[in-house]
Amino acid sequence: MQNSLYERLGGSEGITKIAGDLVNIHLENPAIAPRFDGLDVADLKNGAATFFISGTGGPNVYAGQDMLATHKGMNISATEFMAVLDDALIALQKNNVGQREQEEVLFVLYSMRSDVVLV
Ligand code: HEM
Repeated sequence: MQNSLYERLGGSEGITKIAGDLVNIHLENPAIAPRFDGLDVADLKNGAATFFISGTGGPNVYAGQDMLATHKGMNISATEFMAVLDDALIALQKNNVGQREQEEVLFVLYSMRSDVVLV
């Protein structure tokens, strides 16, 4: 049997690093950075990390709302959604995540599109 995606991404430590990098990359991406103006960066990183840890087969540590409730009313465009996926790929590659794992993460993220875009 194959190890969980959680394990292959380096467990809670590895995922916390990737998620922290992802938020930093978002904050420098002009296509989406304004969305995060005034929000607490540590909270964003914690939300991203715990969501990933829980969603990839790790312990159930995510305490936030589901993706539809989180993004409802934000009027997020398809272009902004792709910017988030682009940033995710950069964060994964920066952390030397394998090709197979990059593909799995991107696929899972893409599958959430209908809960995020124009909801
Ligand atoms: C598959 C794509 C996405 C995933 C998995 C995702 C995931 C998340 C998660 C886990 C949170 C934290 C929720 C919490 O802690 O309660 C969050 C918050 C947020 N997301 Fe997303 N997100 C995605 C796409 C986007 C896009 C495309 C945008 C807009 C550019 C966006 C903007 C935000 C904002 C502004 C917040 C903060 C909400 C707040 O604290 O008021 N997200 N997202």
